[in-house]
Amino acid sequence: MKSTQYSEKVLDHFRNPRNSGTLEGKNVAMGRVGNPVCGDLMEVYLDVKNDVIKDVKFKTFGCGSAIATASMITELAKGKTIEEAEKITRGDVADELDGLPPVKMHCSNLAADALRDAIKNYRAKQQPLAGEKEKSDAGKKEIIGFVEFLNKGVFNEVEDLSLFKDKRVMVLDKGEQSIETALELTKLTPRVIFVTASKEVAANPELKTQLKQSDVKILYESEILEIKGEGEVEKVLVHDLNEDEEYELFIDALIILQ
Ligand code: FES
Repeated sequence: MKSTQYSEKVLDHFRNPRNSGTLEGKNVAMGRVGNPVCGDLMEVYLDVKNDVIKDVKFKTFGCGSAIATASMITELAKGKTIEEAEKITRGDVADELDGLPPVKMHCSNLAADALRDAIKNYRAKQQPLAGEKEKSDAGKKEIIGFVEFLNKGVFNEVEDLSLFKDKRVMVLDKGEQSIETALELTKLTPRVIFVTASKEVAANPELKTQLKQSDVKILYESEILEIKGEGEVEKVLVHDLNEDEEYELFIDALIILQ
């Protein structure tokens, strides 16, 4: 093939590109690369389920070679596992297209590079970010002083809420039951603090609304590190996960339901 000659297959894929467009959804990963020579862009979208590419689309502002190779690579990648798709090379694409003119090397590499970038982004989405993991692990850590102050201001069950009348009570997020307890406490004391490691409280919509409209003060993205006091609970050391700051709060009681 001459350096400027296109095969029939290349011309066909250029004139009738397969899988052109974009994809959306939580299972979609996108890869984007630029052509360093001409500045054109190529985007590849993968819809992946159980590591299998269910659908794939491309969008490019590139030339005929870029369009034809992208069209072919999407055909090759569809239905393959991520691992298989990662092995598709420019050579495979060129073979399937009955050869590519070497003059447009950069253009015909774009699709394979964008596919690889999309696979990289898909993999990154599978691994929760280290920071996010740390946050989701927060609250599961052992709190210093928990055993020492158990039943001395720290409670892992509550039968008689009247004990907390007019007290400063902190409730640790342990699901809906802990939210209900915090709401009940507002009938007895105006000083109820609810601590959760999450950005939002996980509960049914009705309970969430009740909590928002209540006098409960909510400390989002926070964890309790340590309980302190002389014989009885006096204060807790709180870690603000968002700001990564620690501060002390004076309380009379801490409820950590089991
Ligand atoms: Fe820009 Fe081919 S000339 S992608």
